[in-house]
Amino acid sequence: MTKQIYVINGPNLNMLGIREPHIYGHNTLQDVQDLCELTAKALGAEVVFHQSNVEGELINWIQEARTAACALIINAASLTHSSIGIYDALKALDIPIIEVHLSNPHAREDFRHKSYVSPVAFGVVAGFGIQSYRLAIDGLRGKRWLFKWNLKTALDSFLGRAIYPFKRFHLNGLRSMF
Ligand code: DQA
Repeated sequence: MTKQIYVINGPNLNMLGIREPHIYGHNTLQDVQDLCELTAKALGAEVVFHQSNVEGELINWIQEARTAACALIINAASLTHSSIGIYDALKALDIPIIEVHLSNPHAREDFRHKSYVSPVAFGVVAGFGIQSYRLAIDGLRGKRWLFKWNLKTALDSFLGRAIYPFKRFHLNGLRSMF
């Protein structure tokens, strides 16, 4: 099973290329997805890429990432600066979270200086346009999480196939070791 890196994008990022190109550039969200997939491939990982303008949908994907992903890259866009719901959902994860922005919010309006993602993020990449996403994924290179997830997944799928029907209790015990 391939390692999955979740890349989650918030409101208005579907408008990339059209929306304020002097700030966000001319690339589209499809370009961002292509770049993420290419970068992840070099790490032997696969990207699960999502965008929504709806807060609840973002929260559902964050919750899904808890068991499905080895890392989460998130550009929560405007919700970065306002969403306690996203903060709470991120807090429940024990995989690395990397906060990403195309622009540098700290060089912009005051209301963009507050982030509800930063306090739970392992790292933050901002200001490099769509290259921020590439740098974030590249930053995972050689990190133990990719390896740890690999072991857990390999064990899960091996034990799951071999003995899961008979040893559900013991399997859960083993899982908690990783
Ligand atoms: C953004 C910065 C946010 O302040 C803004 O609301 C966005 C995009 C960025 O990628 O630069 O929508 O997250």
